[in-house]
Amino acid sequence: MTTPAHVAIIMDGNGRWAKARGLPRLAGHKAGVEALRQAVRTASDLGVSWLTVYAFSSENWSRPASEVSDLLGLLKLFIRRDLAELHRSGVKVHVIGERQSLQPDIRMLLDEAESLTAGNRSLNLVIAFNYGGRDEIVRAARKIAADVAAGRIDPAAVTEQTVSQALDTRGIPDPDLVIRTSGEMRLSNFLLWQAAYSELVFLPCLWPDFGAEHFEEALRQFRARERRFGGRAERDVISSSA
Ligand code: FPP
Repeated sequence: MTTPAHVAIIMDGNGRWAKARGLPRLAGHKAGVEALRQAVRTASDLGVSWLTVYAFSSENWSRPASEVSDLLGLLKLFIRRDLAELHRSGVKVHVIGERQSLQPDIRMLLDEAESLTAGNRSLNLVIAFNYGGRDEIVRAARKIAADVAAGRIDPAAVTEQTVSQALDTRGIPDPDLVIRTSGEMRLSNFLLWQAAYSELVFLPCLWPDFGAEHFEEALRQFRARERRFGGRAERDVISSSA
């Protein structure tokens, strides 16, 4: 049975994991980074080609300054410590999200992660950082509007493909499966355009507890779904044409 080519994950529940243990939230985020390392290995083992993770949303800036700074610190640490290993194992890193307004040191690290691994061919790891689906669509709309204003595009020629090409995910296939941990059941501004036909799987486990068995459970649920992309169920088509 098919393995999804692209799995996207909303890594939720670090704070609750820490709270349940009487630990500071930072401990939960650190454990979350460990779970992320494991998820990258599992994705490769299971034959997934694309793994997108929601590391920091454009709304996360509204958290207390100390937590924002902890999350930024963890991202820097993750790239500094793990980039060589990711590169060795053939992982190609992509970054989506608004990059211009980030601190120059973070921007440089993200650029470095992409350029160092650009030639790799095993797993594609997409890090959504300072990412928000609406913000991404607004930025795409601005690009297209500028092209229209400059006479480079005829408004009547704007298609779904024009929009897809203007998004941060240009060249990245849409996710087949979106997983969210911690029992919350919403997309929270994640891949709004791209997840139009994704299967959604919500798991009760908190992100730091997410291991290979949870990844496999999500894939089991995915395989039990019938994807129709707005068309009809295969069994209906077969019976009506018989
Ligand atoms: C949600 O937990 C998680 C995040 C806001 C960030 C996800 C970040 C990581 C897994 C670690 C950082 C990784 C990188 C690469 C930067 P929450 O704090 O919303 O948990 P809660 O809902 O239980 O409070």
